[in-house]
Amino acid sequence: MKILLKLFFVALFAVTWSEVIADCRGKNVEAPVWNPVYTVKGILYIPYAELEEPFYAWYDSPNKESRIDYYGGMVKTYQLGNSGPYGTSLKVAPVTTETELNAKTCLQVNGSSEITIEPQSVLPSLVGFECTDLSCSAFPGPGDKHIYTFNPMKEFVHPTTTSHVDFEFDKFKTKHDKQYVNVLENERRREVFRQNIRFIHSVNRQHKGYTLGVNHLADRTELEMKALRGRRYSGVYNGGSPFPYTYVNKDKLPAEFDWRIYGAVTPVKDQSVCGSCWSFGTVGAIEGAFFLNNGHQLVRLSQQALIDCSWGYGNNGCDGGEDFRAYQWMLKHGGIPTEDDYGPYLGQDGYCHVNNVSLTAKITGYVNVTSNNEPALRLAIVKHGPISVAIDASHRTFSFYSNGIYYEPKCGNKVDELDHAVLAVGYGTINGQDYWLIKNSWSNYWGNDGYVLMSAKNNNCGVMTTPTYVTM
Ligand SMILES: *[C@@H]1O[C@H](CO)[C@@H](O)[C@H](O)[C@H]1NC(C)=O
Ligand SMILES: *[C@@H]1O[C@H](CO)[C@@H](O)[C@H](O)[C@H]1NC(C)=O
Ligand SMILES: *[C@@H]1O[C@H](CO)[C@@H](O)[C@H](O)[C@H]1NC(C)=O
Repeated sequence: MKILLKLFFVALFAVTWSEVIADCRGKNVEAPVWNPVYTVKGILYIPYAELEEPFYAWYDSPNKESRIDYYGGMVKTYQLGNSGPYGTSLKVAPVTTETELNAKTCLQVNGSSEITIEPQSVLPSLVGFECTDLSCSAFPGPGDKHIYTFNPMKEFVHPTTTSHVDFEFDKFKTKHDKQYVNVLENERRREVFRQNIRFIHSVNRQHKGYTLGVNHLADRTELEMKALRGRRYSGVYNGGSPFPYTYVNKDKLPAEFDWRIYGAVTPVKDQSVCGSCWSFGTVGAIEGAFFLNNGHQLVRLSQQALIDCSWGYGNNGCDGGEDFRAYQWMLKHGGIPTEDDYGPYLGQDGYCHVNNVSLTAKITGYVNVTSNNEPALRLAIVKHGPISVAIDASHRTFSFYSNGIYYEPKCGNKVDELDHAVLAVGYGTINGQDYWLIKNSWSNYWGNDGYVLMSAKNNNCGVMTTPTYVTM
């Protein structure tokens, strides 16, 4: 939820500043102080995901409570600092199963000694802001730093004379449009950022064959990055058909392959702050199969429909899922709608409304590619299009991956060690090392334009453990 907080601020910044500036004009006044109890509404912009989420928030500092509703109350979240030893958070969201449509369902998460749950303030602290110039007419830009001084953050005062970390942090914040609610949060994020860039530089000095970069996740804690994965392993047989080829001769296949060149892959998407990776892997595989079976038509299919509607098969919306559960739902309901028909991705659990739209990509079944078999996965890619794969993405090296062939010796490759779902769209060899070309769903800012080359050696990180494709 901390992540959401700073995104809020992006939304509110303009409003807040225009108020401050209006107050400043022609007089010398103090920065406003927010009431300890307030309500506010606005729109949360998440640029990478092309998301605009309307919200309404209540904040009650004396009672240590807050509530934030999204999309007109479709999803309601409560942060209760006084409930239980470490606070409690509640989420009320619509859940659609095979027997119920959009039943309001409450999910409770208790705080712990590691993460205490506190009320979320949406408005930024303006302590330290001063208005000293009577003619201030615009937001302070590079040329008019003297108008506002905000000493605790040193932002508008001496941006270049501070330490290297501060300099990098400022650059990072500008590049990714990050603003934090208050000085404390800024300090906390700077510390997380400092640890992350130390890690990034230290890995890069080791010349591992791949490099890390300071991407948009560099101010996030490991716990927050965990929320970006969201493959939930249930330990059951997935119901897939066996791979129909017994022996595959690797030498008879193209030495390298990339479905992007043929136009079978939609642009990289962003799951935002929602553990819906499973829906992106699934949808990528279906978009590819649809392309191959429908005269090379590339259409964007709807992740949101799977998030909203496939609970009955064991998926949990933004709290995780598995590809085969989405396939099973599609088999029962006769396909999946296009994004145009169903509506845009929301980054939240939403109301299921598939009954009102046409379902486009009808599937007839799904197949398990032979596990841990490099020629088999290569053949599957060439013959059947992009393949949904599960991987172990739990290492910090993955979060900050930028270039080269990713190989992480700490990675697991057993089914129960795989926590993220992605899409294999090709393969190849660089300097004698075989790799899989993998599309992620963490926006273009992550990795190599949203993609990663993952080593095929020793089934590293489990790319070859549970690959699946659909038949049409
Ligand atoms: C959270 O704590 C309450 C008691 O305060 C308990 O009844 C509930 O089961 C706990 N929920 C979870 C998910 O641990
Ligand atoms: C996929 O299917 C094969 C045989 O059809 C089975 O052996 C394998 O366990 C299945 N994989 C999963 C992840 O259930
Ligand atoms: C579906 O359409 C009907 C009639 O057009 C409407 O009454 C209903 O609210 C719609 N349902 C959803 C979930 O959008």
